[in-house]
Amino acid sequence: MAFPPAFLDELRSRIVLSDVVGRRVKLRKGPRGEFTGLCPFHNEKSPSFTVSDDKGFYHCFGCGEHGSVFNFVMNTENLQFPEVVEQLAGTAGMEVPRQSAAAAEAARRSATLHEVLDKAAVWYSDQLNAAQGAGARDYLKKRGVEPDSAAAFRLGFAPDARTQLKDALLARGVSDAQLVETGLTVKPEDGGASFDRFRNRLMFPILDSRGRVIAFGGRALGDARAKYLNSPETALFHKGRTLYGLFQARQPIRDTGTAIVTEGYMDVIALVDGGFSHAVAPLGTALTEEQIELLWRFAPEPVICLDGDAAGRRAALAAAERALPLLKPGLSLHFAQLPDGEDPDSLIRARGAAAMRQVLDAAVPMNELLWWKERRAQPVDSPEREAGLRARLETLCREIRDPDIRGAYQRLFRARMDEEFGGPRSRGAERGRGSRDWGASIPRPGGFRRGPSPLLRQTSLGRGEESSGREGFIVGVPLVAPAVLVVGEEAFAQVHLADTSLDRLRGAILQASATVAGLDSETLHDHLAKQGFGDIATRLTAAVVRVNPNLRADTALEETELAWREAMALHGRASLQKEIETAWLEFTEDSSEEKRDRVTSLQEELGDAQGVRTRGNLLNPA
Ligand code: UTP
Ligand code: MN
Repeated sequence: MAFPPAFLDELRSRIVLSDVVGRRVKLRKGPRGEFTGLCPFHNEKSPSFTVSDDKGFYHCFGCGEHGSVFNFVMNTENLQFPEVVEQLAGTAGMEVPRQSAAAAEAARRSATLHEVLDKAAVWYSDQLNAAQGAGARDYLKKRGVEPDSAAAFRLGFAPDARTQLKDALLARGVSDAQLVETGLTVKPEDGGASFDRFRNRLMFPILDSRGRVIAFGGRALGDARAKYLNSPETALFHKGRTLYGLFQARQPIRDTGTAIVTEGYMDVIALVDGGFSHAVAPLGTALTEEQIELLWRFAPEPVICLDGDAAGRRAALAAAERALPLLKPGLSLHFAQLPDGEDPDSLIRARGAAAMRQVLDAAVPMNELLWWKERRAQPVDSPEREAGLRARLETLCREIRDPDIRGAYQRLFRARMDEEFGGPRSRGAERGRGSRDWGASIPRPGGFRRGPSPLLRQTSLGRGEESSGREGFIVGVPLVAPAVLVVGEEAFAQVHLADTSLDRLRGAILQASATVAGLDSETLHDHLAKQGFGDIATRLTAAVVRVNPNLRADTALEETELAWREAMALHGRASLQKEIETAWLEFTEDSSEEKRDRVTSLQEELGDAQGVRTRGNLLNPA
């Protein structure tokens, strides 16, 4: 099939050759803007391969290979010319002109369907601005949506009526069949007349990457059964291949070099309002392979930032597992964790863009997420469990198809296991280093992989340390690293503190955290000092750092958080154990049902706290 020359020229101009080559060859930029690297077409030790974006050609002085971006992809990926054109056009967001008769017919059809959907978007938007849209406008205002964003996302309103959209579009020359084909109306099975799919909803047009309307999402304004309703799959709309907001986010993604992936329509819009215009959302489903590949065309390491609830965390892990086999050199995912119960919309509206920025800055690479997932799956307190952890990590690695990345992950996980549990190499290394060197060691950027061992070892209290020391540690950690509050605030608020001055200090810390967005250690101290907690805060900070010089504000948040949470959990278990002893003694004196239930329920609680499902216990053998 021949491609029109104008199309190929346009495509060539939109593709940056060094980007395409750079995915396979490590390039260095030379003084005159040209790039050099090791030639992928012959074996060499010093770089003689050059790439010029201006000329649009690569040339190897070693083997003489020479060509355009099309030649490069054909030769390195073993593809035919038309396939390369398809692939590059996809990357550039261009549609390949179809020339067969059937293809031309299909293109005409979908062009008219695009027009139908666009007419619907215009009509919905007009209704939002009309008298009947007053309620929807109030709703947007209440949710803090800026009018500019409402316009940029072409928001609209579907009135609570059976055929208003249908009638309006029929009057504009659209056919009943087209309305059904685009999913704008629903045709009942019994053959009755079609009616509007979306009623009494705030409407979010879903655009393809060229900005054409391909579907809609609608949020219920009344109490409809489904909070959100999406268009069905149609000739134009394939949910698993679409990302909401991508059209608007494309340029910001290029500018920032990254993308934020969030769950919902409102999250995307709130992020844009908060200054994060590089946000997109899959449409209420788990991130698909196609969506991951689509994201990678625009940003090498998108940040996945799903809701701060169990479902969101599960979905993040699912995305990581789905991406594992797809990983390619330089392409990965990062993960940001929202505070419990928040989504980007609620966080930005309640605590501002700074709080969101803090969440994004604390994002961890994929290897971190997977490490912590397995590391936290169960306490590693026996050789069998340690070996089990190693085996699970190996299984994960085997999912990675790219051999270089797989090898890198294996090395990383093995080293981390050795570092934490002691392996042949790390034992020698640790002896050489000596424990005092921990504090002096330079943290790797982004908390890439520092084992939590020093934190854990030195804070594994309960080995003779009395509980007030532990309480001091629990209250002290947020003083050193207030960012732990972003994720652990709730547990911190609930932990039982016997020491009343520590309890009061905790109250002040929680209050500061609730009122100051993006709280840092210094601001927190100022805040506490003003309320007369200056001395105790300074003492606790010094004590925490003395106990563990490695625990500083720049320690990876995950590590600090784990140490902190384990201290809280341990503290909870210790006090539960005391309660059980007391309850047990009481039961031996008074064998009433009530006393017995008390022991049982405390034991169950302890089982939960230890992450063990108690089946039966002392009083109720299974
Ligand atoms: P959420 O339930 O988290 O809603 O769904 P939300 O985005 O916070 O919505 P608001 O803030 O209450 O308005 C997240 C996404 O899942 C999809 C939608 O894409 C939604 O944005 N979803 C949710 C559905 O498709 N259907 C539903 O019934 C609910
Ligand atoms: Mn929400």
